[in-house]
Amino acid sequence: MIPVNPLADHYQRALRAEEVLAQIDAHYPAGPTLHQLAPLDQLHIGGVAASTRLLERLNPESHPKVLDIGAGLGGLMRQGASLGFQMTGLDITHGFSTLNKSLSLRVSLPDAPPLAWVTGDASALPFADRSFDAIIFQHSLMNMPNAARVIAESRRVLRLGGQLVMHEVVSGPNVASLRYPVPWAASYQHSHLLSLAALTRLLDAGGFQLDHVDDWSETALAWRQRQRQKEQTPQQAVLSPQWVFGERFITMGKNLVDNLAQGAIKVVEIHVSC
Ligand SMILES: C[S@@+](CC[C@H](N)C(=O)[O-])C[C@H]1O[C@@H](n2cnc3c(N)ncnc32)[C@H](O)[C@@H]1O
Repeated sequence: MIPVNPLADHYQRALRAEEVLAQIDAHYPAGPTLHQLAPLDQLHIGGVAASTRLLERLNPESHPKVLDIGAGLGGLMRQGASLGFQMTGLDITHGFSTLNKSLSLRVSLPDAPPLAWVTGDASALPFADRSFDAIIFQHSLMNMPNAARVIAESRRVLRLGGQLVMHEVVSGPNVASLRYPVPWAASYQHSHLLSLAALTRLLDAGGFQLDHVDDWSETALAWRQRQRQKEQTPQQAVLSPQWVFGERFITMGKNLVDNLAQGAIKVVEIHVSC
């Protein structure tokens, strides 16, 4: 039997994949829209709006072939495909790649280029040199213990003139007060937050030129506070992050708000090119 990677175990242990699909089929027999899936498949702070904003940094005409590293359940991938990008999603959590594919088969994406799903590790990308025009990281680099190696691998698979965009969590000035569990880690073991300065230094050393950096932390805090209010209302939502994380998400969601409010974490957008 193949041992389950400890990080994949963190993401898969409460995942109710079969029940999720049955719930979707019961409530959305004609197939869910991207917005209906968002409480489940946009596993980052900021939901669909954050993914829209990130995708707007790329151009499907000049940079059609996009690799989403740490694609999760694929919310951003399907948005990208609907805009004409040829999306490949890579994820180390096999249960996520499988559910991502099953969700995609239920969503109507007329005229969208086909999607591809690969289970693999960002520190050893299973792709040829210069095989992508663009790479996206959305709340995934923070899970990776060797960011320098992941950035070198990203540079290798990007063509010259390639673009790399990130919507990531980085450490804030008050990182010592970080509270666990958070959605990406039950404890410090799987949380590999860099400061924004350290991350931009690594990108520079890895052969990327900085085009744009933005601090989204205030917007992220306001969004998460609104989500928390919705999560506390008594009526049962059709889908929610609890289908992925289980009851743990109640504490994870609260800790996210506290960590942002106390400056333990920041949410940033970065755009670099090579
Ligand atoms: C917080 S989730 C974000 C998922 C998705 N990007 C989103 O925003 O909805 C982080 C994802 O990164 C994946 N991941 C973490 N480390 C990885 C690695 N070394 N290689 C590939 N995927 C990884 C996890 O399995 C998980 O699906």
